[in-house]
Amino acid sequence: MIHIQFMQAEKWHGKPTMTFLPAPERMMPSHPGEYPGDVLFLPDQKRLLVSLGKTEKITNEIIRRACGSAVRWMMKNNQGEIGVDIQSLDGFSIADEEALDSVVEGLLLGGFTFDIYKSGKKTGDLEVKILTKKTMLLQKALEAAIIRSEAVNLARSWAHEPANMLNPVNLSERIREIAKTYGLKCRILDDKQLERLGAGAIVAVGKASVTPSRLIILEYGGMTKDKPVVLVGKSLTFDTGGYTIKTAEGLVGMKYDKCGGMAVIATLVAAARLRLKTPIVGIIPAAENAISGNGYRPNDILKTLSGKTVEIVSTDAEGRLILCDALTYATRKYSPRMVIDLATLTGGVGIALGDLRAGLFANDVALADSLFQAGERTNERLWRLPMDDEYFEMLKSDDADMKNSTGIRKAHPIIGAIFLKQFIPPDLPWAHLDIASTATTDKELPYCPKGATGFGVRLLLDYLQTIE
Ligand code: BES
Ligand code: ZN
Ligand code: ZN
Repeated sequence: MIHIQFMQAEKWHGKPTMTFLPAPERMMPSHPGEYPGDVLFLPDQKRLLVSLGKTEKITNEIIRRACGSAVRWMMKNNQGEIGVDIQSLDGFSIADEEALDSVVEGLLLGGFTFDIYKSGKKTGDLEVKILTKKTMLLQKALEAAIIRSEAVNLARSWAHEPANMLNPVNLSERIREIAKTYGLKCRILDDKQLERLGAGAIVAVGKASVTPSRLIILEYGGMTKDKPVVLVGKSLTFDTGGYTIKTAEGLVGMKYDKCGGMAVIATLVAAARLRLKTPIVGIIPAAENAISGNGYRPNDILKTLSGKTVEIVSTDAEGRLILCDALTYATRKYSPRMVIDLATLTGGVGIALGDLRAGLFANDVALADSLFQAGERTNERLWRLPMDDEYFEMLKSDDADMKNSTGIRKAHPIIGAIFLKQFIPPDLPWAHLDIASTATTDKELPYCPKGATGFGVRLLLDYLQTIE
């Protein structure tokens, strides 16, 4: 665990202190310090010098990265406490609060570990003291930065849980518990209730699993009587592909097919802790796309909650099926101000954008622009992709209202989005984020170890604060 508090600089005597330095101008001659995050420890002075790279390139993201690498150094070297000379960030045209925010995020996100299933020595505690005279002024900002970072780490650690530990049923119980802790309203619809309601798509996807589907709804009341923002997150606790089975390599990592939902839960928890003004509803369709004789098959025709019928071409295009019922539920039950869904929907989005940016699809320019900007600020970056209605031609079915997949790879991510669009009323602002390639990382990033990134949590929180 990493604890972060303020402390008056005078009280921090003779203890290890971290100082930021632009480089290479002011780094020690013995050390290149060229890259942000290069660290140099001077044992006799107990000083940890952290490079910020070139002065003219210093941004919030550079500070996050530098802090991420500094915290990793501290963990490797078993440091139990450190003071952070945050005043060494003065003079780079970054407001105090933003600098503090970036430091806290870099430290807490960079220090994330998922070691609950590892025997033996666990990572030790780290006490961080932010050395400043402005404790009164910055106290609220510190608390908010901690809440945001803890939310990201919550999304990451739940995403890391393997499918033998976390399934749709016990996930829903876990969410009920955390909702209680933070004062969120929680409603869980089980497979029987979903069947009665007519949500045939989400039920079908979970049919092969011994732990059937759940629709989990979280409500945060906010401080206003505005219509709620509805967030929807795809949560496949595992995606085998079903009868349209994945390859051996394709299966590995499919425990992360719940990252959209984990981002939504974490955002709701943070919204409640931060007392955001905007009312927010989180909808988490949860299922396991397993394989058994009870599974749904290609050519099956499903009746979705909307009343529209869908012919199955690929049982591996299951995300859009659980989402379409969740989207219909959202628009029927609430009268949303807008809907934003997050989903590890298609491998194709990584072919298009790599793992730097998630796919952004929206039926509303203002919403697309604001989300894009939130992505630039948080470095959870997006790129808008097209969603012309003509693409729907490719999803026409001979026997049902639409198919769930074209069966070919052409325009994969766009086809996923155009499918979802069929379940959104035309006048409702809606955005779909395809996070399949940004939700996880297969290499260590400056402030994220391998595995789940928690992508979307900081982005959504930033965006939600701009619309207050
Ligand atoms: N969960 C996958 C998407 C995915 C792939 C996420 C790789 C993360 C890494 C999704 O359910 C899926 O299987 N999508 C198919 C598309 C579909 C139209 C068959 C895909 O990406 O190939
Ligand atoms: Zn799939
Ligand atoms: Zn999937």
